[in-house]
Amino acid sequence: MKSVIDILDLSVEELDGLIKTAMDIANHPDDYAQKCKGKKLATLFFEPSTRTRLSFEAAMYELGGNVIGFSEANSSSASKGESVADTAKVISCYADIIAMRHPKEGAPYVAAINASIPVINAGDGGHHHPTQTLADLLTIYREKGRLGGLTIGLVGDLKYGRTVHSLIAALSRYEGNKFVLVSPNELKVPDYVKKDVGDAAQFIETTDLMEYMDKFDILYMTRIQRERFTDRDEYERLKDSYILTTDKLVPAKKDMCILHPLPRVNEISVKVDDDSRACYFKQALNGKLMRMALIMHLLGHNDGQRFKGTTGEGGHKCHNPSCITSTEQELEHIHKKGQDGVYRCIYCDQPSVGLNSTSNSK
Ligand code: NCD
Repeated sequence: MKSVIDILDLSVEELDGLIKTAMDIANHPDDYAQKCKGKKLATLFFEPSTRTRLSFEAAMYELGGNVIGFSEANSSSASKGESVADTAKVISCYADIIAMRHPKEGAPYVAAINASIPVINAGDGGHHHPTQTLADLLTIYREKGRLGGLTIGLVGDLKYGRTVHSLIAALSRYEGNKFVLVSPNELKVPDYVKKDVGDAAQFIETTDLMEYMDKFDILYMTRIQRERFTDRDEYERLKDSYILTTDKLVPAKKDMCILHPLPRVNEISVKVDDDSRACYFKQALNGKLMRMALIMHLLGHNDGQRFKGTTGEGGHKCHNPSCITSTEQELEHIHKKGQDGVYRCIYCDQPSVGLNSTSNSK
């Protein structure tokens, strides 16, 4: 059985297949209207969402299936202290597939290893958001006709912005992509994101949005993630770091594609919406098409086997307060050595204090 917790749970062939299916759905929606008849999707959202939850639900309805679920932790038994593992086991009795969003990093992974149905990560803390990446990939493919050989500017909160982490992982698997990471020094991409992709991709880091504006094929803007800051003053200081206005687009390529996972706060002026390069509302539509393709793909591969977790070493504690191990008392803390020789928590990917000689932080 397949679950999608990390975008790397899907091979390049699978990604390409999902894009093909999504394009076919766009052209022949009626052919798909009964594909999931009699199936139920459970949307378990422990954190706010508009696009992701509603596009998952719209996707399932458009496939002829049904939806059950909740949209906030307070209306689930989590508020009574139920564990993610128990929730996953119970929902497996009622539904055929789960989409889960959770503020704790690694929660959908814990759900997947305990559920007997496929689990899709709909965003876990500041960690991963693989289905937003599916929306991003389809948009890039439809706009540029390719997923490789691109210069991609990623701008804003690259530390807590989970969509960026998953997008880098996915696009690194296509040849010839260059990433320009534009963020304040305090909000740089975590080390694990770059280390995981090996030598395949090129990274340039800068704090200046305009430095490479004339080079971008894709400009991916993100919101500063207020809810993930522990220091309010730091958020206030950084919240207006990058604001894309029409005058800043003057040096940009005429066929550049501007993306944003949304919601936007103020990082793209509404005047930019009228520019033909603005693709973020198309991106939201593409999210539904890719979620339809993904639901069909996962339901087609349910052989009843459990999702296989990662093995590693126990005996050390994860110290990341955003990790699922910080709230689930009985969860075993497990660490795994990465390609770079650094041990990381298998739930949240943060370096394991005590197992590494020098402990670098997020
Ligand atoms: C993103 C998320 O939830 O990470 N939104 C989304 O799913 N489209 C981006 C964000 O919240 O900034």
